[in-house]
Amino acid sequence: LGVAPEHYYTNYAAIPDHLKEEAVARSAESPFRQLFHTEAASGYLNDPNGFSHFDGKYHLFYQWTPLKYTQEPNVWYQGWHHLISDDMVTWESLGPGIEPDTRFETHGAYSGSGWDNGDELLLFYTGNTRNEDWQRTPYQLLATMDRQGRIKKAATPAISGTVPGYTDHFRDPKIWKTEEGYFAVIGAQRTDLTGAALVLHSENGKTDWRVLGEVGTDRHTNFGYMWECPDYFELDGKGILLFSPQGLAPKQNRFENIYQIGYLVGSRIDKNNLSLREEGDFIELDRGFDIYATQTAILPDGRRILSGWMGLPEIEYPTEAYGYCGCLLLPRELRLEDGRLKQRPIRELAAYETEEKVLSVRLNQDTAAERLAISFGHVLKLHCKNPAAGQLVIDLYSNEERTRYTRVLFDSVKGEVWLDRAKSGLPVGEAYGTKRLIWGGDLSEIELALYLDRSSIELFLQDGLVTASARIFPDESQQFVHMESLAGAWEVAGTQAKLD
Ligand code: FRU
Repeated sequence: LGVAPEHYYTNYAAIPDHLKEEAVARSAESPFRQLFHTEAASGYLNDPNGFSHFDGKYHLFYQWTPLKYTQEPNVWYQGWHHLISDDMVTWESLGPGIEPDTRFETHGAYSGSGWDNGDELLLFYTGNTRNEDWQRTPYQLLATMDRQGRIKKAATPAISGTVPGYTDHFRDPKIWKTEEGYFAVIGAQRTDLTGAALVLHSENGKTDWRVLGEVGTDRHTNFGYMWECPDYFELDGKGILLFSPQGLAPKQNRFENIYQIGYLVGSRIDKNNLSLREEGDFIELDRGFDIYATQTAILPDGRRILSGWMGLPEIEYPTEAYGYCGCLLLPRELRLEDGRLKQRPIRELAAYETEEKVLSVRLNQDTAAERLAISFGHVLKLHCKNPAAGQLVIDLYSNEERTRYTRVLFDSVKGEVWLDRAKSGLPVGEAYGTKRLIWGGDLSEIELALYLDRSSIELFLQDGLVTASARIFPDESQQFVHMESLAGAWEVAGTQAKLD
């Protein structure tokens, strides 16, 4: 690259102010800035990190490369950005969190997690380094944050380099604690180039971290080449392993994104038993287009909350023309029902809904399309009955002429729901297809919530049994919703509220 590596990775304060300011100003000019989803002020946002409740506040960090799109070869910075909140909806930016400023993270302070240790937040993450030949050495690093928000890094890595049987793709520790001590799951690649999750353990969380072994699953071979950002948690006495496998081939309308995210439900693991006796298949967490590298937190009130990156590695997004990319999902509360995760937007969001309007329409082939005016930043909550089976389309962010829209199609004859962004606006990720089959099942009654931000939708179907996320890039003329019955009879009732 022609520039000495020490110039690439630095601390944030060392970056000239004018570069930061130019990047922020350029991003602010984008027409696609979100209204209620967290974005970076400039540069690249990817994985949520260190999601936790500590000292009366919610903390959430994200992977941040603020100058990714700046034409300045001497500056590269990839670390954690720190957010703090009272309700997980409005986040205050505290700027850089973990910075790539030690010799164990010269090429990025990569993903990791946090655990509320009482008077400190314990942080566990991966330091990425490379030598002159671009060979990687990962370090698993510890830090603590005190009540004043001061982050102190441990002097020595918890684990240095690779471990026998695995390659240098070894990263993203997710920490938790039980009466048996501190545990973490970490993403790994076996030397035969298949993906796995390993369990790490330490008595006190600070010293003597060691590898206990792999999380035992039924997919020991051939389930992708790397599992990124694994997370292990328990709900209703079951163990759940949520991870982002890379390298799964598309299969019968599944696994259609460049990389996947999903979970296995099984028995609980503990220090003496790492085997998650699976009680079902690998289930995709979300059936939409843009989701990856999620992370959960446990709250003092017992809720298990998910954050995630609404985006994917190696996909180009139209916002890159303005020097930024990526946003976080709305936090979702997770529950386990009949062996599946149900995901609901956190209840705190309801406090931000205003100007509510009630909707009630009956549609059949003979009725014209019902049109709602809907400015950017709305939530639609609908309940649909289907006295005569057929097809219902809901065109979101449609223009008046209905030449552009994001289509949700309910086919109650086939029992299918499709999300189609072929005509949404500026194209994104088209190489991976523009339609997703998001659900197959009974549609005689439909419960639907749609969170419509400036450049994304998040769809929750059947009370969160299925979710679908998509970045979309409509223009200013696309501020209508059209609902139309193509066949059968439909009764649609619900509310439309502003959310911004
Ligand atoms: C997932 C990921 C992680 C890594 C981080 C670096 O998106 O590749 O495995 O820690 O991003 O930003």
